Formats: sequence, structure tokens, C-alpha cells
Amino acid sequence: MKISKYYILFFISLVLFLSTTAYLSKDKSYYVKKEMTVSDKKVYDNSKIIKFDHQLHIKDAGVKCEDCHTYAIESVSAKDNLNPKKKDCESCHDVKDTKQCNLCHYDNVYKKLKSSDRELVFSHKEHMKDQKCTDCHKGLDAVKFSGQGASSMPDMENCYSCHNNEKASNNCETCHSNLSNLTPVTHLKTNF
Ligand code: HEC
Ligand code: HEC
Ligand code: HEC
Ligand code: HEC
Ligand code: HEC
Ligand code: HEC
Repeated sequence: MKISKYYILFFISLVLFLSTTAYLSKDKSYYVKKEMTVSDKKVYDNSKIIKFDHQLHIKDAGVKCEDCHTYAIESVSAKDNLNPKKKDCESCHDVKDTKQCNLCHYDNVYKKLKSSDRELVFSHKEHMKDQKCTDCHKGLDAVKFSGQGASSMPDMENCYSCHNNEKASNNCETCHSNLSNLTPVTHLKTNF
């Protein structure tokens, strides 16, 4: 009888121990996740709105990024929607022939392309003098949709080579318009 009491006691404390550590580590990962939402670096999923293939156009047909994303070079705000407009496809495709609509459109889906909200400060125009699109947007020549690439949108590391307080500023405020979600954990993690 006595021994089984100890067993029960041991069992209860084991459960307590496991659940508190589980809670703590869960809390931690939640903490990190929340901090990751500071700005959305992910692209908007337009794959249900338009049929498209980056690899085919870039690698096989040799089309340049700026032939479709015509406004990127001039953009001075991260709020701009830099997705292509229909006229950007017109130089190679017939967009008026009603038999051709289905080349690009799914049945009965005729919408404009959307882009994500970003809490970033960024001007393409200011960075295009000495950089190529693919310095920051990597691997699009190997995927159909931008969302399938692992680095379609630049990470913070892409900015370090110049934003090191020598060539250009590395104050958080330079690039982040909303600092309320930024925590010291990131300072450690990113070596800032
Ligand atoms: C120095 C890095 C850098 C270079 C070079 C660069 N970009 Fe970007 N690009 C970014 C960042 C950061 C964002 C996210 C902020 C924004 O939307 O402006 C972005 C966003 C975009 C977006 C998504 C915008 C939207 O929300 O609709 C497109 C499309 C894009 N870039 C295309 C291009 C093209 C095309 C070029 C070359 C002409 C280019 N970028 C060059 C850093 C860069
Ligand atoms: C510089 C020329 C050029 C431009 C600009 C261009 N395309 Fe294409 N596109 C091609 C070529 C070449 C092919 C392959 C041959 C074909 O199927 O006609 C192709 C094929 C396609 C296909 C069929 C893909 C497949 O898997 O068979 C789609 C969908 C498409 N393009 C969409 C677009 C959209 C949307 C735009 C504008 C945002 C665009 N293209 C702009 C040249 C271009
Ligand atoms: C070569 C690819 C391509 C073909 C072919 C094409 N479209 Fe589009 N269409 C697009 C793209 C890209 C957009 C998104 C434009 C934007 O976001 O501003 C679009 C957007 C639209 C929209 C919604 C946005 C707007 O401008 O009002 C309608 C409606 C539309 N297309 C109708 C058609 C019809 C009808 C046909 C056939 C006669 C057709 N399209 C053929 C690429 C194409
Ligand atoms: C032939 C036209 C075409 C070419 C060339 C092209 N793109 Fe795109 N791009 C598109 C279309 C259409 C979309 C929307 C579908 C998608 O997300 O893949 C898009 C989406 C994107 C997005 C996501 C935008 C957002 O707001 O979600 C980025 C980033 C991007 N392209 C970068 C590039 C870069 C960098 C290059 C050159 C290496 C390039 N693209 C070449 C047509 C093109
Ligand atoms: C090849 C070097 C280089 C890279 C890589 C680079 N930048 Fe810059 N950036 C500069 C220079 C040079 C300036 C202008 C100097 C200044 O104003 O501090 C600048 C200015 C800026 C500014 C305006 C600062 C101000 O005070 O007006 C912002 C915002 C910015 N960069 C964001 C970014 C982001 C975000 C990235 C990464 C996606 C990035 N930069 C990558 C060189 C670079
Ligand atoms: C030169 C521009 C630049 C500066 C300076 C900068 N960031 Fe970033 N940061 C970025 C870019 C670009 C991203 C990735 C795109 C996104 O998440 O919107 C990013 C993403 C982040 C993220 C999201 C998680 C991640 O790693 O993707 C956090 C958190 C963050 N930055 C914190 C900070 C803090 C804290 C500082 C100041 C110590 C800082 N940043 C300074 C450009 C910058």
C-alpha cells in the first residue's frame, strides 16, 4: 500500500514537471513566433488568381524581371504593389483574344493581383544603381510561383553587407516602420 502511494506521488510530480516544462517551452516558441510577425516578408499567394511560371519565362524564354515588374525600378515605397499589370504581358501574348483568356486565367477567376502588407521602409529606386533584382530576390528562376521559392523575398541578412553603419545606417527605424514587436531576443539572434 505504502509503495503504491509513493508511486502515485512520483507519478503526479512527473506529470507536473512535464507539463510545466512543456508549458514553458511552448510559451517560448510562441514568443519567438510573435516576434517573427513584425512584418510579412512572404509574398502574397496569387497562385489561385493567375496561371504563371517564373522559371519558364526567366530561364527558357529569357524574359527580364523588369519586363514584367515594370514599376519596381521606380518604386520608392514598400507599400507599392509591384505585381505585373496585364499590359506587361501584352508584348508577347494576345490578351484580347477570347480564346486565349484561359492561358492565364482559371475559369471565372478574373481579379487583380494582390500584394502583402509590409511594415518595412524600402525604396527600390534608391537601391537599383548598383544592384540586380536577383541580389535580393533569389531563386525565382527555379520556381513557378514566387511563393514556392525559399528566398523570393530578402531576409535581413541581405541588407547587412551595406547597412553596417559604415556604408549605410543600421538603426532599426531605418527599415522598420513598426518597432513595437521588435524584442531584444532578435538583437542577439541577428548579431546587430
Ligand atoms: C536591395 C534589395 C532589393 C533589390 C535589389 C530589389 N528588391 Fe524587390 N524588394 C526588396 C524588398 C526589401 C521588398 C519588400 C518591400 C517592398 O515591397 O518594397 C521587395 C519587394 C518586391 C516585390 C513585391 C512588391 C509587392 O508587394 O507587390 C517585387 C515584385 C519586387 N520586389 C521586384 C523586384 C525587381 C523586379 C527588382 C529588380 C528590378 C527588385 N525587386 C530589386 C528588395 C530588393
Ligand atoms: C517577353 C515575352 C513574354 C512576356 C512579356 C510574357 N510571356 Fe508568358 N510566355 C512567353 C513564352 C515564350 C511562353 C512559352 C510559349 C508559349 O506557351 O506561348 C509563355 C508562356 C506562358 C504561359 C503558359 C505557361 C505554361 O506552363 O505552358 C502562361 C500562363 C504565361 N506565359 C503567362 C504570362 C503572364 C501572366 C505574363 C505577364 C505577367 C506573361 N506571360 C508575359 C513569353 C512571354
Ligand atoms: C498573358 C496572360 C493573360 C491573358 C491571355 C489574359 N489576361 Fe486577364 N489578366 C492578366 C493579368 C496578369 C491580370 C492581373 C492584372 C492586375 O493585377 O492589374 C489580369 C487581370 C484581368 C482582369 C481583372 C483586372 C482588371 O484589369 O480589371 C480581368 C477582368 C481580365 N484579366 C480579363 C481577361 C479576359 C476577358 C481575357 C481574354 C480576352 C484575359 N484577361 C486574358 C493576364 C492575362
Ligand atoms: C513574364 C513575367 C514575369 C517575369 C519575367 C518575372 N515575374 Fe515575378 N511575378 C510575375 C507574376 C505574374 C507574379 C504573380 C504570381 C506569383 O506570385 O508568382 C509575380 C510575382 C513576383 C513576386 C511576388 C510579388 C508579391 O507581391 O507577392 C516577386 C518578389 C517577383 N515576382 C520577383 C521577380 C523577379 C526577381 C524576377 C526576375 C528574376 C521576376 N519576378 C520575373 C511575373 C513575372
Ligand atoms: C549594396 C549596398 C546596399 C544593400 C545590400 C542595401 N542597401 Fe539600403 N542603402 C544603401 C545606401 C548606399 C543607402 C543610402 C545611404 C544612406 O542614406 O544611409 C541606402 C539607404 C537605405 C534606406 C534609406 C535610409 C535613409 O535614411 O534614407 C533604407 C530604408 C534602406 N536602404 C533599406 C534597405 C533594406 C531593407 C535592404 C535589404 C533588403 C537594403 N537597404 C540593402 C545601400 C544598400
Ligand atoms: C537595413 C534594413 C534593416 C535594418 C537596419 C533592420 N532590419 Fe530587421 N528586417 C529587415 C528585413 C529586410 C527583414 C525581412 C523582411 C521582413 O520580415 O519583412 C527584417 C526582418 C526583421 C524581423 C523579422 C524576423 C526575421 O528575421 O525575418 C525582426 C524581428 C527584425 N527584422 C528586427 C530588427 C531589429 C531589432 C533591428 C534593429 C536592431 C532591425 N531589424 C534592423 C531589414 C532591416
